[in-house]
Amino acid sequence: MSDKKELLWQSRFSEPFDREALRFSSSVHVDKALFREDIQGSTAHVTMLAEEGIIGKEEAERIIGGLHEIGEELESGRLIPHWEDEDIHTVIENRLKEKIGATAGKIHSGRSRNDQVATDTRLYLRRQIGLLEDTLRALQKTLVEKAKTYSETIIFGYTHLQRAQPISAGHYYLAYFNMFRRDRDRLADLLKRVNVSPLGAAAFAGSTLPLNPERSAELLDFEAVFSNSIDAVSDRDIIIEFISACSMMMMHLSRFAEDLILWSSYEFGYLEISDAFATGSSIMPQKKNADIAELVRGKTGRVYGNLIAMLTIMKGLPLSYNRDMQEDKQPLFDSAQTTIESVAIFTSLLEHTALKEERLAKLTAEDLSLATEIAEYLVRKQLPFRDAHRVTGKIVTYSIAQGKTLPKITIDEYKTFSELFENDIYDALKPEASIRAKQTHGSCSFRSVERQIEEALKLL
Ligand code: ARG
Repeated sequence: MSDKKELLWQSRFSEPFDREALRFSSSVHVDKALFREDIQGSTAHVTMLAEEGIIGKEEAERIIGGLHEIGEELESGRLIPHWEDEDIHTVIENRLKEKIGATAGKIHSGRSRNDQVATDTRLYLRRQIGLLEDTLRALQKTLVEKAKTYSETIIFGYTHLQRAQPISAGHYYLAYFNMFRRDRDRLADLLKRVNVSPLGAAAFAGSTLPLNPERSAELLDFEAVFSNSIDAVSDRDIIIEFISACSMMMMHLSRFAEDLILWSSYEFGYLEISDAFATGSSIMPQKKNADIAELVRGKTGRVYGNLIAMLTIMKGLPLSYNRDMQEDKQPLFDSAQTTIESVAIFTSLLEHTALKEERLAKLTAEDLSLATEIAEYLVRKQLPFRDAHRVTGKIVTYSIAQGKTLPKITIDEYKTFSELFENDIYDALKPEASIRAKQTHGSCSFRSVERQIEEALKLL
């Protein structure tokens, strides 16, 4: 360590901090990612200090000029943060001291690293929430495009991974649209709690200096100011909420990934991933793998791990600040980066997929998944649903035993199961007719899909 650089708290000690202990406690390698936020926060704090007459106007100008230069040095890589400086806040303050001398120390008037790091974290979160919002909106746009392209395409809907009923593929894509809509709502709601300034809480008890926390908040575009200085420096709920929201997004993506992986397999054969987004095998030349979807599914586990890490870091902490909280950065940064990247790559992947419409049309036309239509046909003819279900069950068994699909069973055969069957049963047995006939709100009918697309477009 050069003698110009000292740890911010060293003066009380007669011995220098042990190097191994310093290396262990240094967070520079992680929190250097906060340098923009740190400079932004310090600039606002110093502006407020000068406005309140706590430091001189010229001093403030020199400090802010220096901070600006340091920002450019860090941005361009001319200044490489060194682990010996303990954390990014110290890196910046020490560099400022090199540039403007002892005046640099004034940036800490009425401020501790405790409210400083809480401020930086909130600024970081606000930016990440904005980025995530944008990537989610792009994904939703792609989903609406898919829903439009495939609104008339009939696919199987599944329950228990068993073919259940034919549906419009548009309906399927819009289900995911709704999941990501809730994810965006969660972010918007979280933003209200993120947008609260902790600056002015100092170490945890406030300051004897005449600070103006409202002004600091205003300069940083925060919507509100903390109401309790202890809570202001101790609160990491917003990180936990954010990673929880990320976990939910990743869970949604992971389910979607699973569908794509299954559907692109030979066994299903419903969907083609274009070569640009598929991988091969080093030994089996015929292989075409959905690695991108698998990676998204895998990364989901890491984000869940971050959530549990954060909850565990916080669970035993006495008020107020504890150094344990420094460990919040890695899970936060990793979750933000992983989720944003995953949403973005998944959007591109989706754009590089196509449903195999011919094969799907053939499969859905001949399938037992139309059995529910037979039951509902009988219900329309006033048979109680339970009886209709029983009759239809017998028809399904018969169809399997005879090796005949439902539309191939003759009307005389149908009549042996119930006198209610007429020739119009064959209309009910067309997947398209079955979808068209769905009457209820938010159903898979083509009309409902059209309506959902209109609604979705309004939200983008
Ligand atoms: N690097 C620390 C963190 O991220 C900054 C706060 C240090 N405060 C302290 N009292 N040691 O949490």
